[in-house]
Amino acid sequence: MRSQDASLPNAAGRLPHVDGRRVIVCSGTGCRANGSEAVYEAFCREVEATGLPVVMEFSAEKTHDGSVPVTRSGCQGICSQAPLVTILPDNILYMRVKPEDVAEIVGATLGEGKLVERLLYRRPDTDELCRGAKDIPFLNRQTHVVLREVGTLNPESLDEYIRHGGYAAARKAYTQMSPEEICAEISRSGLRGRGGGGFPTGRKWEAARQQPGPKKYVICNADEGDPGAFMNCSVMEGNPHSVIEGLMIAARAIGADEAYVYIRAEYPLAVRRMKRAVAEAREAGFLGNKVFDTEFNLHCELKEGAGAFVCGEETAMIASIEGERGMPRPKPPFPAQSGLWGKPTIINNVETLAQVVRIINDGADVFRKVGTQAAPGTKTFALTGHVANTGLIEVPFGTTLREVVFGIGGGVTDDAGNIDPDGFKAVQIGGPSGGCLTREHLDLPLDYDALRSVGAMVGSGGLVVMNRHTCMVSVARFFMDFTQRESCGKCVLCREGTKQMLSLLDDILEGRADETTLPLLQKLGAAVAKGSLCGLGKTAPNPVLSTLRYFRDEYEAHVFDKTCPAGRCPKLRKLRISAEKCKGCGACIRVCSVHAIRGEKKKPHQIDETLCIKCGACQAACKFDAVEVY
Ligand SMILES: Cc1cc2nc3c(=O)[nH]c(=O)nc-3n(C[C@H](O)[C@H](O)[C@H](O)COP(=O)(O)O)c2cc1C
Ligand code: SF4
Ligand code: SF4
Ligand code: FES
Repeated sequence: MRSQDASLPNAAGRLPHVDGRRVIVCSGTGCRANGSEAVYEAFCREVEATGLPVVMEFSAEKTHDGSVPVTRSGCQGICSQAPLVTILPDNILYMRVKPEDVAEIVGATLGEGKLVERLLYRRPDTDELCRGAKDIPFLNRQTHVVLREVGTLNPESLDEYIRHGGYAAARKAYTQMSPEEICAEISRSGLRGRGGGGFPTGRKWEAARQQPGPKKYVICNADEGDPGAFMNCSVMEGNPHSVIEGLMIAARAIGADEAYVYIRAEYPLAVRRMKRAVAEAREAGFLGNKVFDTEFNLHCELKEGAGAFVCGEETAMIASIEGERGMPRPKPPFPAQSGLWGKPTIINNVETLAQVVRIINDGADVFRKVGTQAAPGTKTFALTGHVANTGLIEVPFGTTLREVVFGIGGGVTDDAGNIDPDGFKAVQIGGPSGGCLTREHLDLPLDYDALRSVGAMVGSGGLVVMNRHTCMVSVARFFMDFTQRESCGKCVLCREGTKQMLSLLDDILEGRADETTLPLLQKLGAAVAKGSLCGLGKTAPNPVLSTLRYFRDEYEAHVFDKTCPAGRCPKLRKLRISAEKCKGCGACIRVCSVHAIRGEKKKPHQIDETLCIKCGACQAACKFDAVEVY
């Protein structure tokens, strides 16, 4: 990689005049948590110090006067390298930028056209420096549809959204299309709901459209309570108007004049940006009375949820908006028939609504060009865990897990964060409703039906990669603990069954299980899945059942051999000191609170298993890695 690029003008000391020059500081939750606001302020100060005006909003006209727009954006993708800064039109992406780096970026890159190499991305596999998004496999192997503008667009500017073609689809839906035509186009696209179940969106809308009566509602489900998931949050933070525009199209399709965005209060930045976007859209005449000067009205309100996972379930969400306790009720009637205040209501996920805008703009045929026959289009995932690159991704349905983990994610890492070529153990997909998949599923194309056939789910899109040092029984316990706490308590099987499953998992992890435990766990899992009322209880056993299916050996080792093959379960691990590695330094003896270690100076030491309480202090104290778990 060259340290200086010929395409960058070289005007030492002065900022060059570059049309469309723009500094975009990532202002997604990950980058803000890592100090991107201070980086933003530093850019404003430094650019101003050069004598040129800083403008907070991008506009082609303004940049002709030499001013430099310094703007914020939603998540630029590689949250693990936060804070990120993109410089356009040069397409340079700087990572882990601190306020102290900003003067150098302004002087060298904006002023002299030089790259600041130490802030560029370095490929973990080849050590190659990458100049920008186009060179980074994590970004260039994705297909961005919903995320197309997330990361470059200023989410706090309606003008900019409009400049990118924003609200053209809604205008078309209100002024040129009938509700039947909108429903037909969405049906033709094959769009399936991105909130987990994958129900065909067009069919749901058509059902609501055909309901009699003048009063109908649409709700945007922005609850996203799955552990490890932040896709919907990123779309709202990065392109809030696209969600409102999708909601408007949904309302027109079914004839609703009131809309709610049910958003969790634990997403303060998304709440703020959505609120601002609703206010801007209202002021511009897109929301309120006489939408786009037509005879149609649409009033939109934000409802903040207090963070109960079950409130993501549609009937519980309706109860919550009505001011009742968020508890699901049996279906039918489906919300499309009788929902909010007993009126026909459709509920759609944030990403589903953002996809709708693309379909109305580009047409169903363009939408169907990516993805699979049964699941057209793309899906966002939150890629986390033991993988070189973590962050927000969007890929066509049908992409394999191998491509996601190795092609985009850059490979599996060990606990210290280094690439471990043989480290892959499992992927947990779909959050608490999903399941764990293993090496044999690496070439499985990701879509609703393929995942369901192996006991997992697309879910809302959490994707956690796990390395060979992960205990799969503990992973199953983590999700069971979550769903057990989040059960609303209405059904006995969900309320008590998940508690019993959790207690059986604790028996396994703490060495109390016997030959009756695994069959009982399996039986209970099947009963909870069958007998629960809502999706929470019905899917709660999935992480347990899928790990029992694919990692049975690991369960059996815990139950019968009382060992944890991954060496992670404190109550089951056995420690020994390697005679080859031990130097007899005595560091372990000094930290053992129960005097379980014996040995002479400069000779190999031993652990007395009958005294050892498995605290691991000796392992941490040994500088020679001589204390081993077996
Ligand atoms: C316990 C539970 C939690 C859910 N959480 C969410 C959520 O956070 N976001 C979401 O869009 N759908 C969630 N769903 C699915 C919704 O109930 C509903 O199916 C979805 O919002 C429909 O939108 P879609 O057709 O666009 O996918 C959840 C379902 C259950 C059972
Ligand atoms: S399945 Fe669980 S969360 Fe759902 S209604 Fe029953 S008790 Fe509540
Ligand atoms: S694990 Fe704890 S109790 Fe056991 S030998 Fe090491 S320091 Fe002592
Ligand atoms: S929040 Fe900045 S890269 Fe994700």
